[in-house]
Amino acid sequence: MMAGRFAGKVALVTGASGVVGRAAALAYAREGAAVLVAGRDTARLAEVVKPIEEGGGRASAFAADVTRSAEVAAMVEAAVSRYGGLDMAFNAAGIFGTVAPLADYDEETWDDVVAVNLKGMFLAMKHEIAHMRSHGGGVIVNVASNLGAHWRLPGAGAYAASKAGVSFLTRTAARDHIGEGVRINSISPGPIDSPMSTRPGETREDRDARMRTALPIGRVGTPEEIAAAVLWLSSPESSFVVGQDHVIDGGATA
Ligand SMILES: NC(=O)c1ccc[n+]([C@@H]2O[C@H](COP(=O)([O-])OP(=O)(O)OC[C@H]3O[C@@H](n4cnc5c(N)ncnc54)[C@H](OP(=O)(O)O)[C@@H]3O)[C@@H](O)[C@H]2O)c1
Repeated sequence: MMAGRFAGKVALVTGASGVVGRAAALAYAREGAAVLVAGRDTARLAEVVKPIEEGGGRASAFAADVTRSAEVAAMVEAAVSRYGGLDMAFNAAGIFGTVAPLADYDEETWDDVVAVNLKGMFLAMKHEIAHMRSHGGGVIVNVASNLGAHWRLPGAGAYAASKAGVSFLTRTAARDHIGEGVRINSISPGPIDSPMSTRPGETREDRDARMRTALPIGRVGTPEEIAAAVLWLSSPESSFVVGQDHVIDGGATA
């Protein structure tokens, strides 16, 4: 077993094939947790498992679509059967959709964004909590966005509404389950160094130039800066923090 503040613990990360989830999965593993990395792209999941195993940690992949309840239930069961329990979950699966004024927004895209970001979060929490509350409790961190309840990007209504929903679902779920030992919070990142922060047709350099003036800190965040917050919210150091959304956005909404 690896040493670290999460030695002997089991973590589940949805969206682990993505930029933010990957960094959190690596961070949990560095701290000694066994990590179930979940997503749909098994090749990218394998690229998360590999460095963890090479570093002496424990991780394995699980393919699940967060919009399908049976697959989400199986994902939680896999963490329990492979590693003996589930102590921490980081729910990072999410999609951005498209940018268009509301009256022009494509209905199918709306349905997809809300299904993955909001229903997916409901299903992930539902199945994670079901296990945690009958096995001594646990900790959940959900990914919302500063484009949810905090900031507005014209044309991003589906994303903003779904992410505002994540913040408020987090708050109500936290109140529902803190008495059963399940502690739940969310984070609302600003633009992170990832494809999601780059506009269509924009290069990374263009994006960085835009961020120099768009954000008070003058740059995008790193996935590791998000992972650091996830570790804190997953650890006993934040034991009195319940049902709160934490904006991590370089001052964008300051
Ligand atoms: N990057 C940013 O600037 C930023 C800012 C604020 C908030 N966020 C939020 O942070 C989270 C991660 O973002 P990211 O930048 O890491 O994005 P990303 O690299 O595009 O990763 C998105 C992840 O979501 C997973 N996913 C999408 N649809 C899914 C589905 N139906 N079932 C299961 N998994 C699904 C993807 O897995 P597969 O491809 O394997 O299906 C992937 O692992 C998202 O919730 C996003 O909204 C990101």
